[in-house]
Amino acid sequence: MLKLGVNIDHVATLRQARYPGMLDTHNCEPDILAAASACERAGAHGITVHLRADRRHIQDADVFRLRERLQTRLNLEMGNTPAILAIALQVKPDEVCLVPESREEITTEGGLAVAGHEAALRPTVQRLREAGIRVSMFIEPDPAQIDASAALGAEMVELHTGAFANALGGDRQRELQRIVAAARHAHAAGLQVNAGHGINYENISLVVPVPHLADLNIGHAIVCRAVFVGLEVAVAEMLQRMGVGA
Ligand code: PXP
Repeated sequence: MLKLGVNIDHVATLRQARYPGMLDTHNCEPDILAAASACERAGAHGITVHLRADRRHIQDADVFRLRERLQTRLNLEMGNTPAILAIALQVKPDEVCLVPESREEITTEGGLAVAGHEAALRPTVQRLREAGIRVSMFIEPDPAQIDASAALGAEMVELHTGAFANALGGDRQRELQRIVAAARHAHAAGLQVNAGHGINYENISLVVPVPHLADLNIGHAIVCRAVFVGLEVAVAEMLQRMGVGA
């Protein structure tokens, strides 16, 4: 069954708009734990957050509180830096997804370059796995990146669907075919296949038929919809479009 991880970074974006620089966000609205609970009540299978080096939305305290209180899985997205790795090893999320990160970007713009950067990534993957954390690589739907991820010992890949989501017409079909081919390749390599970025209530119908998909991580579209209908309804609507029901 296809599963949904709701990325709640943008609930924290809204909070930080009013409380910039606040490290103890305990009493600040909107409450990140309440948001996570609403997603869980609606049937989400997990909660995803990205602890960025610049702390622009999610704060360290959020990750620790989520770890304590979540009923479902915690998926921590992170760049490969010693400081964030140290936090991940303390928090022990169920899963870590390694992502590329640059300060200037608005969101994670491309996939992680795993091929060619094995030396930097191998110790991180190893330490996370030794801590009992399942490791995913957020990569472009590219066979070389998939093979490099498998060789490093990652259990999962998350295929970056951003190019597909941004493409129109024939280009969109071509991008979708790249994702389908990558999903087959990753599955054959023994990897769990996840996908995310730019998936919304409209393009989800094209993503669902992609073979071997296990988890979808969706954030922006759900938080935007929640402004009008509330988070529980927004999550339930996405689950319904995934054919999972609420
Ligand atoms: N997956 C990963 C690895 C991401 O970095 C993001 C964006 O933070 C998402 C999924 C969710 O993307 P979106 O907010 O466009 O749904």
